[in-house]
This record gives sequence, structure tokens and C-alpha cells, in this order.
Amino acid sequence: MGPHRSSWRRALVAGAATALTAVGLVASPSAANAAVACEVTYSKAWEGGNSFGGNLTIRNLGDPLTDWTLTYTFPGNQQVTHGWNAEWSQSGSTVTARSLSWNANQPTGAQWEIGFNGSFSGSNPDPTDFAINGTPCTGDEGPGQEEQALVVTPTRVNVPEGGTASFSVRLATQPSDNVSVSVTAASDGDQDITVSSGSSLTFTSSNWDTPQSVTLAAAQDDDDTNGTRTINVTSEGLEPVAVTATEVDDDGDDTTPTPGERVDNPFEGADGYVNPDWSAKARSEPGGEAVADQSTAVWLDRIAAIESGSAGDNHMGLRDHLDEAVKQDEANGSRPLTIQIVIYNLPNRDCSALASNGELRISENGLQRYKTEYIDVIADILADEKYRNLRIVTIIEIDSLPNLITNLNVPDCQEAERTGAYVEGVRYAIDKFYEIPNVYNYVDAAHHGWLGWDSNFRPAAELFASTVRGTKAGLQSIHGFITNTANYSALREPYFDINTTVNGTSVRQSKWIDWNFYVDELSYAQDMRRELISLGFPSDIGMLIDTSRNGWGGPDRPTGPSSATDVDKFVDESRIDRRLHAGNWCNQAGAGLGERPQANPEPGIDAYVWVKPPGESDGASEEIDNDEGKKFDRMCDPTYEGNERNGYNNSGALPDAPLSGHWFSAQFQELLRNAYPPVN
Ligand code: BGC
Repeated sequence: MGPHRSSWRRALVAGAATALTAVGLVASPSAANAAVACEVTYSKAWEGGNSFGGNLTIRNLGDPLTDWTLTYTFPGNQQVTHGWNAEWSQSGSTVTARSLSWNANQPTGAQWEIGFNGSFSGSNPDPTDFAINGTPCTGDEGPGQEEQALVVTPTRVNVPEGGTASFSVRLATQPSDNVSVSVTAASDGDQDITVSSGSSLTFTSSNWDTPQSVTLAAAQDDDDTNGTRTINVTSEGLEPVAVTATEVDDDGDDTTPTPGERVDNPFEGADGYVNPDWSAKARSEPGGEAVADQSTAVWLDRIAAIESGSAGDNHMGLRDHLDEAVKQDEANGSRPLTIQIVIYNLPNRDCSALASNGELRISENGLQRYKTEYIDVIADILADEKYRNLRIVTIIEIDSLPNLITNLNVPDCQEAERTGAYVEGVRYAIDKFYEIPNVYNYVDAAHHGWLGWDSNFRPAAELFASTVRGTKAGLQSIHGFITNTANYSALREPYFDINTTVNGTSVRQSKWIDWNFYVDELSYAQDMRRELISLGFPSDIGMLIDTSRNGWGGPDRPTGPSSATDVDKFVDESRIDRRLHAGNWCNQAGAGLGERPQANPEPGIDAYVWVKPPGESDGASEEIDNDEGKKFDRMCDPTYEGNERNGYNNSGALPDAPLSGHWFSAQFQELLRNAYPPVN
């Protein structure tokens, strides 16, 4: 693994105003007949000295926009120096922000953000005269627009045969009159599923946002299939919402669950698979016993990893792991068992780093080989009836899609983008695994030190959405996303957050945070989830966070906020993440084990997981010959003095590291020592 470094960072250059091309006030609605109606909320993100940052949230209350131009005038002498999520320019006091290709299309009801940094002297009053395509944004709806909506959660419900299950309904905005909602079962589908209460609901101007419950019942039947029935939630004039209800059969020994039978959170109430290969290595280390029974993921990092190794390399193959998982499942009573499998073999893998380059190349028919020799083979094994009771979590292609957002200056990444190989490979994997009812797909969403700048955040979310939308089952074919895989970002920075200011200066201005919008991984993962849901993903998607090596305990851990008044000093003395730079990713010195794997730790987070097995190297600290396709990445060399992606800092890597994936005893020992929470 490797590549997280690449935060494409916006540099705020004082006096950069000259870099902006001045153009006049533009008011050119491209769709002349479209009714434009909009609302703009302006807020100062920070202010210090003669600089400030502004955020604008735009809401489309009118017809869908295919491109948009926002204009406003500064009441004072403010000057935009650098903006994002739009093409910014300023002429006199008039500011113009035009849509970019990825955010030009905004359907009715859409909300999006743009922002800028600026300079000023004297006072800094907020602008108020916002207009889109020349039409003032008054916050009133356009003619015929309806922003009211039914909010239904969840939209997939499992109803145990002979039992009941429920979902909830509320309104999106306050109505002026009462709103009646009907809930009815579709005429076709499994007739055993019925609406047992809540079939007619009334929302008033005072209780509109209190969820009301609808209960479904599934009658006992004699068949042994899991029938489904669509339940329609409707209200006059509003977009109807369909809920898919699946009866969970209790007859016979039906071992063929339907896709609808996937549970909401596969980690909840389940034990995690203990990988005997990893466990044995951990146990053989002094003190390792204390964590050797933790669940870690199984990495299929090359085609040969699928089959058991023979002489010389006697690793367990995928079937060995699944057979062992079935044993662990049988031994733990009625608790289900969750096993995590990392799918990690795209052609041009890890295109912007070297340490985890893989065996397949796009130019050598790699995408085809990925499909037939890798994904198809894995899917066949996972689909085996023997494994039907396991909850199989697939972690799909770490550091692939994010590289298409930030690293298109690297030829290997350009090729991945130009040929569509990453997107097509990821879709192929998702499609194949989604067909298997007990497999749960989680796609990699990098980490805050990579995508936490808004110039990367929204474009990445859009790419995730367009990629998954292109699968056979669309946005529902994945269960969620994973962040921080094999990375070191702290879960929480306890002594400051993104809104902290030091002596009037935002921590965002510190060298460490460098204008990022996130200081830690939990806030990033939760916001990324919200963003993805706003782009259409089901509201029941969940996030995973890899906490295998982000503990940052040990003697150097700060115990409270610094009292320094210089923002850099404050952040450096207060942060628990002790890396030299947040773009460092290889075998980080000073790191410790993080939160032990656990389900439902925080809202929106399905689980903390140990996907990167502690003790396995991120990359060799010097050139090592190998037949795994792995190259020497200087970010793993402790003597390396860095590049623009880590601010020319030292790599912070431990010395004497073996190839990525190989056992690295010294690192394991350090992770144990610096564990937080501490081990034992
Ligand atoms: C390596 C893989 C390895 C995985 C887990 C990655 O960095 O490239 O070969 O399986 O880490 O240790």
C-alpha cells in the first residue's frame, strides 16, 4: 500500500489577486427558459489580520441548472485571492464564480458549496446581493417548485417470518398545512408481508420533523424462500418513496438468503475472523499475545494469493481462510462471523507510489486479467454454498479512485484514467460481489490528509457516486466506504478541532493542517458519508475506519492543549498525531495500535477495523529484489528528505523495513508500545 500522501493542496499566496483574470459582470443564463430560483448562504470561515475565508452554500430552488454563474458585490474593499469549486474572478467589487464541469449540473433541490480566501482592510461586511445567471437569489422557490419531500429510513427492511419490523417517515421541511401520507403494499410481491400499523400518517406544522413509525408484519408461511414486497410511501404532490421489504424465512434449512437479507451493519452483533497466519506472527512477538486474537483483514494482493501457497510460501489461500472462518463461526455459538477480504490487484495498482505496485499492467491486458483471473475466481469461491452463513466484507481497491482525483500528473494514473481501467475494474468487482447475498462491499475513500481539502472532497465523492451508479444495481450495490486504510491519521485530535483559533488565527492556517477542512479521521469519515448520501447513496450506508495503527500513545503523546500563542507551535504541541507531515504514510516512527476493532462506535460508522494487519510493512526502506511487482519508494527510506507532497519533510519511516506486506518485527513492537488505548 502506500500512496496516501498526495494532498493536492491549494496554496494561499498573499497578493495572489493578480492571478485572477478580471472579467465583467456576467449574466448569461445558458438555458434561457429555465426558471432560476436560488438561495445563497454566506459565512466567514475565518478571519485573521487582513485575510479571511468565505464559504457560500448555494441551493437550487428552481429548475435544474446545467451550468451556473454566481455574482455578488463586496460592500467593502475585499478582494478574492483564491477560490475553489468554481472559476473565480473579480472586477472592481463585483465577484463572479462560474461552475466547473463537475458541479455544473445541479438538479432542483441540490445544495453545494464554493469558497474562497480573500484580503481586506478596514471593515469586512458580508455581501448580500447574490444572483445566479442574473436572477437574484431571494430564497423563494421558483414557480412550480416543491422542496417538500418524504424522508424515509431505512428503505430496505428485513421482516422476520412471524414477526414485525419497522421504518420511519417524516417530512423534509415545515409544511404550512397538514400533510397526509399513505403507506400501502404493492399489489404484487410476497403477499405475506403487510403494513400492520402506520398506513396513514398525518404531519402538521409542528410535528413534521418527528419521525413516525410504520410497522410491517410477515405472516408465517410454509415455503422456504425469502419473498419481497415493495411498500409505497406516498403523499399528494410529493415524490413517492419505495421501501423494499424482505421476509426472512424460518422454514426448512434454507441457506439461500436473498440480497435483501443483508443486515444493515455486518459487524453488529458479530465476531470478527481471526486470521491464523497473522495471529501466529503476532503471538510470536514478545507481548504480542495481548492482541493476537484481534480480527484483521485477509489481503488478496496478487492472483497467487487466492490459492494456498506450496513449498517455500505456505500461506493460506482464500478457501483455507473461509473454511477456517466457518469453523470459528461454528465454535462461537449463535453469533455470526464477519470476515474481511481486501481486493487489491487493479492493473497499474497504486499508480502514484511505488511500494505497493502490483503484478498487472493496463498496457499488458491487465484489466481483462483482473476480471477473469482475479475477480471471477474470487467471486466463484465466495459464492460457494458452504460459506453462506458468513458475513463476508470486501474492502475494494484501496487508493485507486482517489488517485484519479489528485494524481493525474503521474503517467500511470493518467493511463488509469484515460483507459477507464480503475473505474471499470472497481465496477466489475462490485457487480460480481453484489450478486452474492452474504457479501458486503465497502469501497475505499482515502483519508482526510488526502481528500480533506474541498478541492478534492466533493470531486472525490462525485467520482465515487458516478462509479457506483454505473454498476448493475446502482448505488445500492455497496454497503459503505472505508477510510484510513493502512494510514496513520488520528481518529480524533482531542485538543483542537477545525474551528479552533489561536490568537485570532484559525488552526487551518498552521503548516500541519495547511488549509485542510479536517483535523482528524472521524470527522472526515462522518462528513464524507453525509456528502455521499447527499449525492444519492442510500441513507443506510456506513463507514469503516482503519484504526490498526493510528493510536499515537506512548510517552510523546500530549496530555492537553498547548498554551502557545503561535498557531504553528500550538498545533505542533497539541496534536497527538506525531508524524512529521500528514502526507507521510510509510512505516511511521512513533505510531501505536489504535482503537481495537469494534462495531457501531460512532454515528454513521459501522465499525473500527484493523484492515492493515499491524506488523506488516508498508514498503522496503531500500531497494530489495522481488517478484511481487513492488518497487522502492523513497517515502519508506528514513534518509529521504521528501517531495512537494509531504512539504519536503523527512519521510519519518522506520529503518530496515522489508517489502510491503512482509513481517516487520520492529514496527510491531513499536505499535504495541505506543498503543492507544494502551494494550492489556
Ligand atoms: C502490500 C500488500 C500487503 C498489504 C497488507 C500492502 O501494503 O502491498 O502486499 O498484503 O499491505 O500488509
